[in-house]
Amino acid sequence: MKTNSFITLAAMMIPAFYGYAENLIVIETDNIALVYDVADDNRMYQRYLGKKLQDTKEYSLIPNGPEAHLTHGMEDYFEPALHINHPDGNPSTLLKYKGHESSTLDDGAIQTVITLADPVYNDEVKLFYTVYPEHDIIKTHTTITNGEKRPIELEKYASSMLHFSNGDYYLTQFNGDWASEANAIETKLEYGKKQLDTKLGTRANLFCSPFFQLALDAPASETSGDILVGTLAWTGNYRFTFEVDHRGELRIISGINPYASQRTLAKGETFTTPEFIFTLSNEGRGKASRNFHDWARDHQLYKGNETRMTLLNNWEATYFDFNEEKLKNLMGEAKELGVDLFLLDDGWFGNKHPRHNDTQGLGDWEPTADKLPNGIKALTEAAKANGIKFGIWIEPEMVNPRSELFEKHPDWAISFPNREPYYHRHQLVLDLTNPEVQDYVFGVVDRLMTENPDIAFMKWDCNTPTTNIYSHYEKMNQTHLYVDYVRGLYNVLQRVQDKYPDLMMMMCSGGGGRSDYEGLKYFTEFWPSDDTDPIERLYIQWGFSQIFPSKTLCSHVTTWNRATPVKFRTNVAMMGKLGFDIKFDDMTPEEVAYCRRAVANYNALKPIILEGDLYRLVSPYEGEHTATMYVGKNDGDAVVFTFDLNPRYKQFIWKSDANVRLQGLNPSYRYRVTEIDRTDGSDLPLGEYSGDYLMTVGLPLFTLTRLNSRVITLNVIQ
Ligand code: DGJ
Repeated sequence: MKTNSFITLAAMMIPAFYGYAENLIVIETDNIALVYDVADDNRMYQRYLGKKLQDTKEYSLIPNGPEAHLTHGMEDYFEPALHINHPDGNPSTLLKYKGHESSTLDDGAIQTVITLADPVYNDEVKLFYTVYPEHDIIKTHTTITNGEKRPIELEKYASSMLHFSNGDYYLTQFNGDWASEANAIETKLEYGKKQLDTKLGTRANLFCSPFFQLALDAPASETSGDILVGTLAWTGNYRFTFEVDHRGELRIISGINPYASQRTLAKGETFTTPEFIFTLSNEGRGKASRNFHDWARDHQLYKGNETRMTLLNNWEATYFDFNEEKLKNLMGEAKELGVDLFLLDDGWFGNKHPRHNDTQGLGDWEPTADKLPNGIKALTEAAKANGIKFGIWIEPEMVNPRSELFEKHPDWAISFPNREPYYHRHQLVLDLTNPEVQDYVFGVVDRLMTENPDIAFMKWDCNTPTTNIYSHYEKMNQTHLYVDYVRGLYNVLQRVQDKYPDLMMMMCSGGGGRSDYEGLKYFTEFWPSDDTDPIERLYIQWGFSQIFPSKTLCSHVTTWNRATPVKFRTNVAMMGKLGFDIKFDDMTPEEVAYCRRAVANYNALKPIILEGDLYRLVSPYEGEHTATMYVGKNDGDAVVFTFDLNPRYKQFIWKSDANVRLQGLNPSYRYRVTEIDRTDGSDLPLGEYSGDYLMTVGLPLFTLTRLNSRVITLNVIQ
């Protein structure tokens, strides 16, 4: 018999008295609780994970579940969180409780640190729980310290282990490929192990994003159901293991993928794992997303509470085929559109091996003289003259073998000394474990910024997964390469941030190949996909919106899928951080005029779209239509985006079925409802309604016109 809640191993029989109350470690947010118990054997057990109880004392009525942080080699039969090989050949670890303490951190979070140690080998493991009470977010990571006289080897070193005992488990993963990222796919977990992982290194998330949703007992909807949403903050190989045992109990182990990454720890050395971040919602996926969005803006995302710049990017407008004059023309178009920034993409550098295509030049970060005879300076000046800011694309972690950099430093590339290299997009990954290479990569940004202090934005690309897995750096332990690469990257990004704190940066990896919350400590936004077909984007943005706020999702209007009206393409892009990757030649004068108005509308709506609460109203996975809305904080104004994909007449026979019921409004407020952002430039008043009516009855916002889109504003009537 299973419990019908997300209580972990909850009581089937509640004892009248349970003797461990004094040993409970209670980690709570405003609405959720994670409770551990130290038993008489001094081992620590997970007692509860679920909705917070009003009376803390009642956690002592719940019997203990499994040992919290299970280790290899002892009595457990399933996947462990930790596996240490000791110098004497013994592969087992037993963790006993030593103590715990809580403190308040500078950002207001409450951190509980539980110290465990192996009484035989003296290795110490600390479990960190950092709690953001009002966001219902808990971050967990561990440190492992070698307390032995000789080096130890970490075989497995998870950041977190959580246990559940529910009737059923429904896992939603977000996988895909280049140009098809973050498809939401739900499966029921049965006995055995399901792993979501990557060993792609640099472009880690090419096939699967590092987050998941786990609905407990029954599939969750946007508005109901118990659901855990988790993500690993790590810009590299990750692994989530979901293992259902013979009793139907589930463990989730999250951390760096230990694949080919055994870690040697010297005497006294400590290894710190990345943060696993999770929330629990008993109001479905929507609430879990809003928990993540609010927390990210307040605590994780770089410049999380600042607005974002609209832009015109030249990549799809020109690809590699541009010169100073073409770029200046595009800047004029950017000005006319009213966007904040012009972003120069790939193809501006290299002289001995000019970057006329993707086969050469990466690594040689001097402007190509025959394309840009007056350098970047002429471009930043042109941007200034147009009253816009200037941004530039770099891919500083990579090198083309056909480059001066590679000719000088072949050993800086990750590659085998004795095998033909495998190239992905004709390039290799630079070895960021080597401090000299870190200096070089930092220098790419530093030189650009020193020579062109007006650069306001960078798009940091990364198109190649890590293959040819071998470091030439003499101090390198080869099994440390995947992990130390990521640490090297963070060193560089930290230096960039420290020296250029005003610089805003887009994380890009040939589309959404990097999409994680540790990266977003350094980047203000990311590029979810090279696929800008607006229909595909509705799905891709739906996927990423599950944990990332709209201000991080760069969404550009392009010529992909020209069959869709420019308005449709623009409305899709307006749901994230709006940009354009198109030239006026690709549009009619009416379409250009529409885009100009759309930018002005978007600017007015930015506080709602970028800072407000997201409600996904109708899923594109349901087929015919989709709708999403944003509500300004503190019962503010709202905006609804609707899209008609494959409308079917039958839907409109029963009127109530055609209505879109809104969410997140104040039921007792009245709202003026208007359709804005129309191609004819006019605003269409749709009436005045109470929030109650709009959320209970809804409005017939969908239409029977294929590829129609609408932007509906709701203004609070004072
Ligand atoms: C891949 C990115 O995703 C694109 O947006 C573009 O910047 C190209 N790289 C340039 O090579």
